Amino acid sequence: MQNTYEIADAWRKAKKVVVFTGAGMSTESGLPDFRSAQGLWKQRPEALATLEALYSQPGEFYFFYQWRIAKLWEVAPNNGHTALAALQQEGYVHKLITQNVDGLHQRAGSVDAIELHGTLRTVSCIECSYTADSRTLLPDYTGWEAAYRKGTYNYGMECHCPECNSSMRPDVVLFGEALPQKAWQKAQNACSEADFFVVIGSSLAVSPANYCPQMALSNGANLLIINNEPTPFDNYAKWVIREKAGEVLDRVKDNILNL
Ligand code: APR
Ligand code: ZN
Repeated sequence: MQNTYEIADAWRKAKKVVVFTGAGMSTESGLPDFRSAQGLWKQRPEALATLEALYSQPGEFYFFYQWRIAKLWEVAPNNGHTALAALQQEGYVHKLITQNVDGLHQRAGSVDAIELHGTLRTVSCIECSYTADSRTLLPDYTGWEAAYRKGTYNYGMECHCPECNSSMRPDVVLFGEALPQKAWQKAQNACSEADFFVVIGSSLAVSPANYCPQMALSNGANLLIINNEPTPFDNYAKWVIREKAGEVLDRVKDNILNL
C-alpha cells in the first residue's frame, strides 16, 4: 500500500486540481470496464458502439446498450466517487472530467462533471428531437438477457421513437462521432489551467480524451495516475499508484481533509 501523505500534501497545496476519470472509476460499483472486461460482450466495444452497428446488427447493438442501461440503474457510486465529491465540496477539486457515461459521479454529489463521452442516462431519436430516460429503452419483460445468450433475442419496439417511429439511440458518443463541442472545450480549458492533474481508472487508450493529460503536462502540471495497469503516460507521472481507485481515493481524501 503506497504512502499517500506526500501526494495528499501536494494535492492540498495545488491551486487548480483537475481530475480525469475512466471506466476503472466504476468497476468497484460493479460496472465492468471496457478493456479488461472478461469478454462480456461477443464483440469489442469499438465494433458495437457505432451507428453502423445500429443499422447492420441492431440486435447486438441494442443488447449491448440495454444490458449497460439496466446495469447502470442497479449499481451505486462507490467510495471513490464519494471521496471525489467530498474533496470537490471542500475546494480540492477544481474540475472533474469523465469519460464515463454512468452518471455515478453526479449521483455521489460531484457537480459540473464534464462528460466527454455523453451519458447513458438518456436516449434520443436519431431523426426528431424526442429524448427520454434511458430506462424507456429496456424490454418490458424479464429474462431478455437470458434470451440473448440463448440466441433467441430480438430487440422489441421499445427501441423506436414513439413520435416518429425512427430508431432510438443512447446519448453517448459513438465511435467515429465527434465529442460534444461544449464539453470538449470546457475540458481543454480545465487542462490548460491545471497545476495538478489526476488520472483515475483509465487506460488512456482513446483519443482525443487522452490528449487531456498531455495538455496538463505541457502546462507544467504534476501528474498523478491511479490505475491498475500501466498507461502510456506512466513515465511522465510524478506518482503512479497501482491500487484500487476507491481505496486510494478514500485514503487520500482522509489525508487531505485531516492534514
Ligand atoms: N482501480 C484502478 N484502476 C482500475 C480499476 C480499479 N478499481 N478497475 C479497472 N481499472 C483500470 C483498468 O486496469 C484499465 O486500465 O481502469 C482502466 C480502464 O480502462 P478502459 O477499460 O480502457 O476504460 P477507459 O479508459 O475509460 O476507456 C475510454 O473507451 O470504449 C471507450 O467510450 C469508451 O469511455 C470509454 C473509452
Ligand atoms: Zn423521433
